[in-house]
Amino acid sequence: MRDLLITGARLADGSGVDLGISGGRFVEPDGVSDPERINGDGLLALPGLVDPHTHLREPGREDAETVATGTAAAARGGYTAVAAMANLDPVTDTAEAAEHLAALAARTGSAEVIVVGSVTKDLAGEQLSEMGLMSRSAAAVRMFSDDGRCVLDPLMMRRALTYARSFDAVIAQHAQDSRLAGPGACCHESEISGRLGLPGWPAQAESTIIARDVQLAELSGGRLHVCHVSTAEGVEVIRWAKARGISVTAEVTPHHLYLGTREVESYDTVFKVNPPLRTDEHIEAVRAALADGTIDMVGTDHAPHARQDKDHPFDIALPGMLGLEQSLGVVVEVMVDSGLLDWSALVDRMSVAPARLTRSPRQGRPVAIGEPANVVLVDPSARAVVDREASASKSRNNPYHGRELPDPVVATVWAGRVTYRR
Ligand code: NCD
Ligand code: ZN
Repeated sequence: MRDLLITGARLADGSGVDLGISGGRFVEPDGVSDPERINGDGLLALPGLVDPHTHLREPGREDAETVATGTAAAARGGYTAVAAMANLDPVTDTAEAAEHLAALAARTGSAEVIVVGSVTKDLAGEQLSEMGLMSRSAAAVRMFSDDGRCVLDPLMMRRALTYARSFDAVIAQHAQDSRLAGPGACCHESEISGRLGLPGWPAQAESTIIARDVQLAELSGGRLHVCHVSTAEGVEVIRWAKARGISVTAEVTPHHLYLGTREVESYDTVFKVNPPLRTDEHIEAVRAALADGTIDMVGTDHAPHARQDKDHPFDIALPGMLGLEQSLGVVVEVMVDSGLLDWSALVDRMSVAPARLTRSPRQGRPVAIGEPANVVLVDPSARAVVDREASASKSRNNPYHGRELPDPVVATVWAGRVTYRR
């Protein structure tokens, strides 16, 4: 691994910095030998981004994504770590499965892969998975989620939150009451679901589960994380819970910050996602919540799907859209360029907070001498039209295709190694 020298960049607070990188850490600029040079003039050097919510699809659906392609997409998006959700095939519900994924990531990954274990066996919601064994395994699992499905049974949720306490783990919930928003629900329930003739997914199917779960977190003393919050009602419940001192964190996706129900009018299945794209009042609410910290972080919910799984009528196509490569661009557009977040707060929402959530000691650290060299170099003014064919992902379900967005990522360095360079 060659040494690196980055000159002339600025940190998030605006101060200038020259950075040497050697042995996987930041060193003084004169501490490197025969380095690869990167001219940082006009660029920001930010801590590598951390995604608390990625679907890598390996093992099981390697035609849609692999650890290699998903983490390459992560690097292209400025990420140095991604949390790999457990809805794989087989499901990550045993220590063996968790260790298998960790070993695969060590061999083929272009970013740190944080292994997420499932809460219940085979995501069936009936028996707890091997949470303790997964936490004590070589994969050292600290986050559990049945994401893709909601842990619907409140007793199961209470037990998971209680059990997870003993190994400092968090339970990440996909909040969807599947009786209120049933299996076919695919469109925000409002005027538009009626007009388009699509089964409705009401905001309350999310917010009532969040309301239940924050109270179970209080009862159990466990740590709760709410995945992909998409509703104003959900935000209000989280605000209430935080004011009460309950241990809850939340994420919002780039697509719920940026896209809305109007996209669904085309019936283009790239815009089918769970939870569904919402109306302007909800979009405004999640933006304001990310700005004021009620929503702690951005999670991409990068959900690659093969073409044959999207080439169906809207109500039967699989839900999910890509996110890793355009996430930072979307957040810059919606939150930074609009004045809602400054760069230091963006670093908190996209690196520091998710690193703390997932208990990742090498991530979300300052760009400073002696720290692990995880850094993304950002050009705050670069823009480009998104081309789904240019993606590092194996899938093409990119909802930003053809749109002009900020294109800030110039280079990504993970553990001292260049994983992406424009
Ligand atoms: C995700 C997937 O495809 O795995 N789909 C989605 O619509 N978000 C599952 C999930 O995050 O709920
Ligand atoms: Zn989900």
